[in-house]
Amino acid sequence: MKTFIISTSTTEHLAKKIKERTKSFKIIFPEKSKEGKRCFPDGEVYMKISKANRLRQKRVVVLHSGAPEPNQGLVELELILQILKDNKVKPEVFFTYFPYSMQDKVFEKGETNMAENLVKKLVNYYKVKKIYIIDPHFGGMGWVKKYPINSVSAVPFLIKKARQDFGKDILFLSPDKGGKRRTGILGLKKERLDSFKVEIFSSRLNFKRRILGVVDDIIETGGTLLKFYDLAKKSGAKKIIVLATHGILPAGILKIKKKYSKLYLTNTIKQKEANIDITALILKNIV
Ligand code: R5P
Repeated sequence: MKTFIISTSTTEHLAKKIKERTKSFKIIFPEKSKEGKRCFPDGEVYMKISKANRLRQKRVVVLHSGAPEPNQGLVELELILQILKDNKVKPEVFFTYFPYSMQDKVFEKGETNMAENLVKKLVNYYKVKKIYIIDPHFGGMGWVKKYPINSVSAVPFLIKKARQDFGKDILFLSPDKGGKRRTGILGLKKERLDSFKVEIFSSRLNFKRRILGVVDDIIETGGTLLKFYDLAKKSGAKKIIVLATHGILPAGILKIKKKYSKLYLTNTIKQKEANIDITALILKNIV
């Protein structure tokens, strides 16, 4: 039975690559408005899958990335899932990057765990059977186990590439404990003061003459990795490279690229600086 992949506008770059690589999937790019646009003039999202009624009893995977434009993307995703629900299709969803993933717990009273709420809605309301997520920010958290989530990691992919270029002796580190929870790679202590300012603490680090590979899930403002660089440099590192899965803000990515000896960044989010293609990782998991 052929698998149908429905691509939102954030994953068109990946869906096109899948189409080039294999004939095992039928790719659906939802139709646009009469003006050829994804949004109406007032900003509301338009969505149409005219052959949705033919997808009943078929395996359907919706491919989505939570960036750029997380809010528009979310509405696109919900409209697609609603159209599928209207047509009695129970799909799977593959997130190359999960939107709202950093709001993954109630940090302060009066907030909500948006990441879990979204997962809950997909499973309970839209009847999504399986959710694949590449390097979810909430990987390893307790609540994740309650849902049919399949975490897929790009980290082994990134490490393999870095070792090919810089040899086997790279010392891999996470910039914070969250990184350690997700990957098992030793992490430093980090405190985030606001969206732009972070502090990383360490005592008695000695990276003399080492090649350091800092492994992080996300580059947003670049604040975390800039701080990490200063610390690692002071501690004597010879070379420092970055292995990152999701590149969210181009300005942050460029700052990191300039500072570090090398940046390995995947294309889970469409970015000019992405140099590691994860199409094979997607295919390996959904075949
Ligand atoms: C934080 O917990 C994440 O793992 C990343 O380290 C963080 O989101 C990166 O953001 P920024 O580039 O803005 O420091």
